[in-house]
Amino acid sequence: MPCTVVVCGFFGDTGKGKIISYLALKDKAAVTARAGVGPNAGHTVVYEGKKYGLRMLPSAFVYEKCRLLIGPGVLVNPDLLLSEIEMTHSEDRVGVDPQCAIIEPKHIKTDKGGHLAKKILTTGTGTGPCNAERALRIVRLAKDVPNLQKFLADVPLEVNRAIDERKNVIVEGTQGTYLSLFHGTYPYCTSKDVTASAACSDVGVGPTRVNDVVLVLKAYTTRVGGGPLPNEISEEEAAKRGWLEIATVTGRKRRAAPFSYELAKRAVMLNGATQAAITKIDVLFPECKGVKSYDELPQEAKKFVEKVEKEIKVPVTLIGTGPGAWEIADRRIE
Ligand code: GTP
Ligand code: IMP
Ligand code: MG
Repeated sequence: MPCTVVVCGFFGDTGKGKIISYLALKDKAAVTARAGVGPNAGHTVVYEGKKYGLRMLPSAFVYEKCRLLIGPGVLVNPDLLLSEIEMTHSEDRVGVDPQCAIIEPKHIKTDKGGHLAKKILTTGTGTGPCNAERALRIVRLAKDVPNLQKFLADVPLEVNRAIDERKNVIVEGTQGTYLSLFHGTYPYCTSKDVTASAACSDVGVGPTRVNDVVLVLKAYTTRVGGGPLPNEISEEEAAKRGWLEIATVTGRKRRAAPFSYELAKRAVMLNGATQAAITKIDVLFPECKGVKSYDELPQEAKKFVEKVEKEIKVPVTLIGTGPGAWEIADRRIE
């Protein structure tokens, strides 16, 4: 902190939601600004015995003093946003930039047909068609939606002011490096860049204002939808290893593969990562479950973390040992 960007180094679903909920609580983040594409993302937050699936609001909502912003680069589905505001009782601390583009039923309809549904296997949430209209400069913006008026806020100004005041700010990336329209596995990718630079642009933060970029990696790799996944294993094998996950947004099964050092290394480069998080270490090494200090992790888990560090050449500071916001070994404080 003060300005920390959190992004995923693989194909999304590495647990950014969990890492951000922890960072917001632990570092008392004053502001979190959601970046990324839009409601195609599904961030899971597990806190005080409840599980939340968030597609629009920042995962930092668990820290009650945190202002929750949505940057102008992000696409907004107003119905989804309003239902998440209600679910999290966060009405008095949400800000939506007037320049956010709005997803309409026609975008969702287009996304659920043709090559997007059949070849790319998109999430069907309307984000690609909405970004296409945005590029054509015919899309509707948040400033023109009556039931969003009370949430409108100048997000870049708020974020930069908080940084000026040395408050802790989180920029919440979504999707993953290899789903980027520029750096991912085109055409099997999402509808814009989603690396750290894009996340900053989404919320109006310049590159010189960022202190840390946390690259979130998972102890194994998963991917939903079409496109290559190096060393992919069968669904049966994934189930056997406990790696078979179900997607938050679409309910589809996630494809799985072992941890890829090659992808992780390149993601460090593409995102300018200063540190990394590894989630789900408890799935590889069950004795890690709920462990909150690095010293208490079993030897083989430590060996894995140290091998990752040696390969990617940035410190692994946060290690996820369970889905709960506090289930983490935080090496920043050891
Ligand atoms: P996208 O923005 O959609 O890419 O999502 P995300 O990166 O926020 O990840 P998502 O919540 O979709 O998937 C991560 C899954 O792993 C969720 O079910 C989390 O609850 C779970 N999870 C996160 N960290 C850990 C961990 O350290 N251990 C275990 N067992 N589960 C974890
Ligand atoms: P779209 O972003 O809905 O257009 O989908 C394009 C590709 O990105 C598909 O393979 C989706 O499964 C994938 N995708 C988009 N958002 C996410 C995400 O948040 N997590 C994981 N995969 C995603
Ligand atoms: Mg997800």
